[in-house]
Formats: sequence, structure tokens, C-alpha cells
Amino acid sequence: MQEYATSQAAAKRIEDALAERFGETCSVDPDLAGLDELARIASHRVHRRFLPRLVEPKLLRLLCACALSAPSKSDLQQADILVVRDKVKQRAITALIPDMPWIADAPAFLMFLADASRLPQIARLRNKPFPNDHLDLLFNAVADSAIVLTTFMRAAAAVGLGCCPISAVRDRADVVSDLLELPQRVIPLAGLCVGWPVEEGAVTPRLDLSITLHEDRYRGSDVAAQDLAQQIDAYDRRREQRRPYRRQRDPARWGEAEVYGWSEDKARQYAEPLRTDFGACVRAKGFRLE
Ligand SMILES: Cc1cc2nc3c(=O)[nH]c(=O)nc-3n(C[C@H](O)[C@H](O)[C@H](O)COP(=O)(O)O)c2cc1C
Repeated sequence: MQEYATSQAAAKRIEDALAERFGETCSVDPDLAGLDELARIASHRVHRRFLPRLVEPKLLRLLCACALSAPSKSDLQQADILVVRDKVKQRAITALIPDMPWIADAPAFLMFLADASRLPQIARLRNKPFPNDHLDLLFNAVADSAIVLTTFMRAAAAVGLGCCPISAVRDRADVVSDLLELPQRVIPLAGLCVGWPVEEGAVTPRLDLSITLHEDRYRGSDVAAQDLAQQIDAYDRRREQRRPYRRQRDPARWGEAEVYGWSEDKARQYAEPLRTDFGACVRAKGFRLE
């Protein structure tokens, strides 16, 4: 009886989180296995405010080991984690990104790396040719690294920790690379702030499943631009009710919009050139992008 009540509560938590996320009802069978895990995944949110409480190195190592248990393309194992223990280095990274003070405040700071350095070394070691020095090498390493990052976040959430990925480290990938002594063919995917969260935080609504979930073929070519505009407007309104933007981006350039939704914010964000030198930085790290 007690067990049934617990699984009913977990099913309800999932339904509530997904309703908040997608604005639609997904009914959940309380007899399904793994409902606690699904509830955690469905209720995901990033955390940027942390208690001044240590994350034990032993716990961090356990979470890293769990994260590095993630699947890996062809078992190539091209993702690494670098734990930034040195607070001087953590502060130096914060100084590069002054509008994200949560990096300095994070009790633990990790760097997730796409590491394609070992494969060519192994080829040399085993006296083999290496005709695969092209874009796919980078792509595979980045995919592995993103999966390890996500798996770390799931493991951290399971023990009650909160996380915030920081791709802004790539704004100054060259400096970060020097600071952490990253060799050729190793690039930072993202940093990660980790700590015990101050508050529960809230679910961020996502685009409707009718936009991002496809069946058999990509739906889009048959959706008139006008329909997509309506769907985006509807999402903007749904999101506004739950998570209104507190500040408008760059009002000096764009003015104060009467209605400021997600699409206005993202359009403004991407109206600025961002990381235009990143390709050069990746090439300088020895990757070939052809
Ligand atoms: C790859 C990646 C990079 C991110 N980079 C940053 C970042 O540089 N700074 C930051 O504050 N948040 C960053 N975030 C967090 C996102 O802003 C956040 O996931 C998004 O707003 C949605 O919120 P939610 O994760 O709570 O649903 C990043 C998230 C991902 C997945």
C-alpha cells in the first residue's frame, strides 16, 4: 500500500513537471519501474546559487566515475573530466566571464573535455596509419564529452547536488586551454559549476513537443511559416506565464519590447556575432574541420 502511494506520487511528479515543461498532459502509469529516476529527469533545472558547503572530493570522484561510465562512440573513450581544485585557477576563469559570478561561488568547478589526442597517439604506438584526421574526429569527441557532461549532471542530481554548465568558457578557449595546459586535439566543451543548491529552482518550459518531436519524417517542410510563427508565439506566451524574462537584452540597440518572449530574446542574442574565432581556435588545437 505504502509502495503504491509512493509510485503514485512519483507518477504525479512526472506528470506535473512535463505539464509545466511542455504545456501538455503526459499520463504516467504508476506501475512503471524507475519512476523516481524519470521524475528527476523530467524535473531537471540548472542551479546557479549554492550553499557554502564543500562537495567532498570522494563524492566528486564517485560522480566522475559514474559519468565516465556513459556510452562512448565505438568505445573510443574521447571524453575527459578535469576537476579544477586550484581556487586561483577557478578565479582566473571567472575573471574571463565576469557576468557569471556563479562560477567563482561554485564549491566545485569541473571542465568537460573533448579529447581526440589519444587516438593518433595509439596509431603511432601500434605503428598504424591514421587516415581519419578530419571533422568526424572532432564530432565524435564532442558527442562523447556532451554525453559524459549530461551523465554527470544526472548523477549529481541523484545525490541532491545542483549543476550549471558553462559553455562561456569557450569565449576564451585559448586562455582556458593555456591555463589548464590542454594539449593539441583537446578542447573544452563546457565548464560545470557543482554544489548544494540554495533553492529548489524551477522548471523551464520548452518548445511544444509538436515542434521538436517528429515521427518517420521531419515535420517542418509541410508546416507553413505562418503556422510555425503561431506555434512560437504560443510557446512565448506559455513560457511568459511561468518564467517571464526579468531583463530585456540590449535595449539600447533594440528598444524596450512590449511583449518580450523567448523568441525575441534568442533573436536578440544571436543578432550579435558570438565566438566567431572559435573555428580558428579549434584549428590551432590541431583539429582539421574538413
Ligand atoms: C552545453 C550548455 C552550456 C551552457 N552554458 C551556460 C553558461 O555558459 N552559463 C550559464 O549560466 N548557463 C549555461 N547553461 C545553462 C542553460 O542556460 C540552461 O540549461 C537553460 O537556460 C535551460 O534551463 P534549464 O537547464 O534549467 O532547463 C548551459 C547549458 C548547456 C546544456
